[in-house]
Amino acid sequence: MAAARRTKRIGILGLGMYVPPKVLTNADLEKIVETSDEWIRTRTGIRERRVADPGTTTSDLAFEAGQRALRQARLQPKDVELIIVATTTPDMLFPSTSCLVQQRLGATKAVCFDLSAACSGSVFGMVTAQQYLLSGRYRNALVIGAEVLSGFIDWTDRSTCVLFGDGAGACVMAPVSRGGILATDMGSDGRAAELLYMPGGGSKYPPSHRSVEQRLHFLRMNGTEVFKHAVRHMADSAGHVLKAAKVKREQVACFIPHQANTRIIEAVAKYAKLPIEKVFMNLQRYGNTSAASTLIALYEAVEEERIRRGDYVVMVAFGAGMTWGSILLQW
Ligand code: COA
Repeated sequence: MAAARRTKRIGILGLGMYVPPKVLTNADLEKIVETSDEWIRTRTGIRERRVADPGTTTSDLAFEAGQRALRQARLQPKDVELIIVATTTPDMLFPSTSCLVQQRLGATKAVCFDLSAACSGSVFGMVTAQQYLLSGRYRNALVIGAEVLSGFIDWTDRSTCVLFGDGAGACVMAPVSRGGILATDMGSDGRAAELLYMPGGGSKYPPSHRSVEQRLHFLRMNGTEVFKHAVRHMADSAGHVLKAAKVKREQVACFIPHQANTRIIEAVAKYAKLPIEKVFMNLQRYGNTSAASTLIALYEAVEEERIRRGDYVVMVAFGAGMTWGSILLQW
């Protein structure tokens, strides 16, 4: 009898990350707004974050991370077939940041578009790429989550400015003969859109003197409500992918949650019954880098050998929209 043909799976061939060199510590923030290192650490877990110099763009960070991922995957830019950049802070409303990255990389053959899913961007980008690769439409994809949030933060609002940071994470995806993505989950709830948003700059409030005076070009958030949504959706989503692939929680070597806040992550772990020692966290050094966060965390978890060949890994993200999603993969 012929051996049953294994369903094609899509995996990660290379990872990359880049954060700008400038470090902004909690002590630095104490000089900008009425806050304290102690408040920020105990409420969020964050100790420092990276901020881009003026003039540094999202495509600059995305290019650096993308180039590193291609190198690790041993894929030449000219052979890249699809580039997806997930971001809430594109260089411009158009053209897409992915086209700017394509140009910098010299990835002339690639089809490029941006994806808007806020902090779920990396996970949404990877699931989108997986679908194109499974269908056979493209043979490889470069997925990048990148943000220069520092330009869209109200540095007079202590309830938001302490939370975020700039950075980029990237991965190269392609069909693999072992391991790869076993299950995915995505969800959205537009009813909660105004819990986390940036009102100005789009067609609703195009840039004007008034929009600037009313500070409409900065991120706004109802932190307490976002917190509750994040915990519930991330815990449920992680549960869905485990159930779909019939993998038990105890079999998972590493959980990579969106790096928003240690209290959110600890609550997700508790609610979803995930052992906290298997949950990777690096937000103490980077803050919330939104679309970049889960790919930066995956990169560092692999570098720190928290993930080894054959391990089960769950990435789980949550962001404005609201949006959420998970990926279960075998490394
Ligand atoms: N420093 C000092 N005090 C601060 C502060 C800061 N940076 N930010 C807010 N406060 C104050 C508030 O003004 C409030 O003071 P008051 O009681 O005198 O009004 C007090 O701290 C408590 O504020 P509250 O919002 O209830 O705090 P919290 O314990 O809910 O923590 C967040 C606030 C933002 C840390 C928390 O709600 C959170 O993490 N939310 C999720 C945010 C997030 O991760 N979003 C992205 C998801 S993708």
